[in-house]
Amino acid sequence: MMLNSLKQILVKGSGPFLSERGWGEVVQTKVKKVILLILLLSGVKAYTQSKQDIAPREHLLMDVGWKFSFGHPYDTKKDFNNGTGYFSYLTKAGYGDGAAAKDFDDRSWRKLNLPHDWAVEQPFSEAASFSHGFKAIGRNFPNASIGWYRKTFTIPKSDEGKRICIAFDGVFRNSMVWVNGFYLGTEPSGYTGFEYNIADYLNYGGENVIAVRVDATMEEGWFYEGAGIYRHVWLNKTSPLHIATDGIFVTSKVNAANAEVTAQVTLLNEFKNSKAVDVTQTIINAKGEVVATGGTKNISLNSYEEKTTSLVLSVINPSLWSVDSPYLYKLITTVAESGKTIDKQETNFGIRTIRFDAKLGFFLNGKPLKIKGTNNHQDHAGVGSAMPDALQNFRIKALKEMGSNAYRCSHNPPTPELLDACDRLGMLVIDENRLMGITQNDFNYMKRLMLRDRNHPSIISWSIGNEEWGIEGNELGAKIAATLQAFTKSIDSTRFITAAVSGGWRKGISNVIDVMGYNYIGQINTDEHHAEFPNQPSWGTEEGSTRATRGIYVDDNEKHFIAAYDKKPFPAFNSIEEGWKHYAARDYLAGMFIWTGFDYRGEPTPFGYPSIGSYFGMMDQCGFPKDNVYYLRSWWTDKTTLHILPHWNHAGKEGQEIDVWVYSNCDEVELLLNKKSLGKKPMQKNSHLEWKVKYTAGTVEAIGFKNGKKVITDKVQTTTAATALRLTPDKSSINADNEDIALITVDAIDKNNLQIPDADNEITFSIQGPGKIIGVGNGNPASLEADKYLETIAVVAVGNLKEKIVESIASATETTTDYNDKDWQPAFKDDRTAAFGEKVKALVYRGTFHLPEIKATDTVTFFYNSLGKEQSIFINGEQIATTIAQSGKGNTFILNPAMLKKGSNSIAIVATPLLKKEPWETVNMNPGLFQIVSPAQAYKRKLFSGLAQVIVQSTGGAGPIILTATANGIKKGEVVIEAKQVALRPAVAAN
Ligand code: GAL
Repeated sequence: MMLNSLKQILVKGSGPFLSERGWGEVVQTKVKKVILLILLLSGVKAYTQSKQDIAPREHLLMDVGWKFSFGHPYDTKKDFNNGTGYFSYLTKAGYGDGAAAKDFDDRSWRKLNLPHDWAVEQPFSEAASFSHGFKAIGRNFPNASIGWYRKTFTIPKSDEGKRICIAFDGVFRNSMVWVNGFYLGTEPSGYTGFEYNIADYLNYGGENVIAVRVDATMEEGWFYEGAGIYRHVWLNKTSPLHIATDGIFVTSKVNAANAEVTAQVTLLNEFKNSKAVDVTQTIINAKGEVVATGGTKNISLNSYEEKTTSLVLSVINPSLWSVDSPYLYKLITTVAESGKTIDKQETNFGIRTIRFDAKLGFFLNGKPLKIKGTNNHQDHAGVGSAMPDALQNFRIKALKEMGSNAYRCSHNPPTPELLDACDRLGMLVIDENRLMGITQNDFNYMKRLMLRDRNHPSIISWSIGNEEWGIEGNELGAKIAATLQAFTKSIDSTRFITAAVSGGWRKGISNVIDVMGYNYIGQINTDEHHAEFPNQPSWGTEEGSTRATRGIYVDDNEKHFIAAYDKKPFPAFNSIEEGWKHYAARDYLAGMFIWTGFDYRGEPTPFGYPSIGSYFGMMDQCGFPKDNVYYLRSWWTDKTTLHILPHWNHAGKEGQEIDVWVYSNCDEVELLLNKKSLGKKPMQKNSHLEWKVKYTAGTVEAIGFKNGKKVITDKVQTTTAATALRLTPDKSSINADNEDIALITVDAIDKNNLQIPDADNEITFSIQGPGKIIGVGNGNPASLEADKYLETIAVVAVGNLKEKIVESIASATETTTDYNDKDWQPAFKDDRTAAFGEKVKALVYRGTFHLPEIKATDTVTFFYNSLGKEQSIFINGEQIATTIAQSGKGNTFILNPAMLKKGSNSIAIVATPLLKKEPWETVNMNPGLFQIVSPAQAYKRKLFSGLAQVIVQSTGGAGPIILTATANGIKKGEVVIEAKQVALRPAVAAN
């Protein structure tokens, strides 16, 4: 059965290939039919775009200039009265109320840019979730579990008639979205991208408001997931007749020196009448030269008809995509109506073949390739799940340097930028679905993931699930997995379907899945299983989950430290070395994915609070290597490697035996203590070497030999006291684009310039120039230090509002601080009818507001909403506004802290009354809010095992960014990173 399904995959592909140049027939059905050909270019030609060719498609980043505030899951007042209207957004179109309303006053909310993860900003609490790393969000923390985001943006008049969509790459989770008060929908998934067409709701030539309510009360995974709009948001503008979202699918077949590239495009006509268009598809190589082109003419589409057409394009002598040479081509799809380009989209793709063999493992481009993979979640030190794009590059590069060639997106759809990084850098991917199921809902999630990701050459496998304990070992699981697998293949037959299984072998999911995913050889004898299912390809979807604290070599249950020798986590499980030895020795196993590449937040197994992060990573949460990285580098790469552990600072242990391990791929290694040889040992393949060394301060040196020759050395040295801090950036310049980052490693050195491996100094950071710190970390999973240091915002409302009718707006006696208003009536007791207006010329409103202690560095802003047609405003008796006119958007006053006091303050407003025109109207009764912003404290972090990491992001401007690190008693460290002017990617203006 397995072989049959594999065969099916291999023979399915593009249709007939025609070798003549020309235009094809019109495709009349929704189902694709291959048409024609194509131009094979003997000489190369650079791709040029004519004026005619400039298409109206715009893909605009919408990350900058958002407002944010916490709402509440059940206290409607704290949730800005959303959903409380007699008619609300579910009853009447456009009736978004409270914070979802277009004209809601969000001036006192925090300003921020996306991506944003509010979970990482919260303190830790023992009452919070173990699996999510004890950040104080979730059911026990209703004040920090609902987030509201709003953004005002302008749409030019000239956009009228376009199709305009707002697209979210991922929001954690259960997001509801409104535009101009129109409810667009709810997306429960925290991982799947979604978009809404908003064209008809927009105000062309004016302001528009998007509001998003995010509910992170529930968890989807058992690992840290963040909270908020933690991936990019886009505004997509196209013609109403356009290439459908994720409507391009490029596949290729390689025949000898030729590749047949099938370029499929789905068009959607959202005009109200039928249309006919021509499609041109051109492939350009990495140098921008055209290598193939062709097209389909006169494709007619009725109103709201979707049609799929495909072409086969021939690429002669293609450069194949591989992990060592990740060559990318670009397909340019152009849609023209009567010769005028109305849509154009560029799609990166790679030409490569993939194959699984049940006996011989995985093949890339016809050659066997052992999978050396890691599993990873999607968070990083300092920033949580809101990862700037450059961080994807940093992490994939770090994994590649370790020798890894594959990445499993455990256990959810990844951000598109991760897949781009894998395409660019050469990393194979298992792209994984979140929850296994077979309803339309489940199919829809699987399909959306696949349509979005199917052009990434890095993806070799779709995973339909992980450790579905309730079903993986039974008949029900077999049924469900078989159904979901069949559906998955119907969307993309060019990749292989897998599922990660942890038990119930020989029944359930393992019986039906195309590529068997073993989660841990401690749980299954793969040889026996393979003998029973010899035609089923297989790999280790999780393996070798050792736990280690970076730079720590003695277990310490008090401090929650686990020594970084690659020890079995418990007897039934395996070390990284044992795991790799098993997989390396068996051809039938395509390879393995270590649990995990990087430490992640949550799952601090085997500890609990105050441990807040996992210990499984080959690297820590910052990406600093643990010693296991060198074991893998030794056996996963050809690079000559030699690494000694532990460090050699063990004062107090003089004379005691210390376990010294060496990782290397040399033939032999000699170890020396203070120049005295401790012997030479031969290295076994996929192993390590061990010595017991009696501790004495000094130097332990290792010498690696290949073919009897000394090829490499490594040493660890006892260091003396720290004298200075050192800052080392991952790059010396970044783009001045508000997005790019530099990761700066902080360490302490002694008088001999030796890095101190056990330094734990507390460092304070400051920054100047066009950059800001967005997070700090040190890789200690038991550290409760803050990841972020942010300004704090307190918002205070006016209470006890009373009123008194006065003769004129010039009346001032009632505005003094201590005026006795005991007998005044509550404000707005009388209806503001025309009759009220005839009798009342002016009123004085008085109210109180309670302030916390205001520091000189705080900024207090009063966001006033008009209570009158004209008004004068007094705070504690001091006039801050004189007869100002009513303002639709309100007035903003920055108050001098000297006029304010801790505790009760008074406000008096003398105003001419606002009146209702119609009986059902209301007038504004809320004078506004006081916002107290206290500046952020300086960023701080302790070194842990000698290291800390600072992430610095561009704030847009060009010029030098200077980061300074200081610590008590030692010389400060400083580094300059140049922010370089670059062309910005198209974006929605900040507003
Ligand atoms: C596996 C699971 C992973 C992670 C790991 C920790 O069973 O699939 O997500 O929880 O255990 O040991």
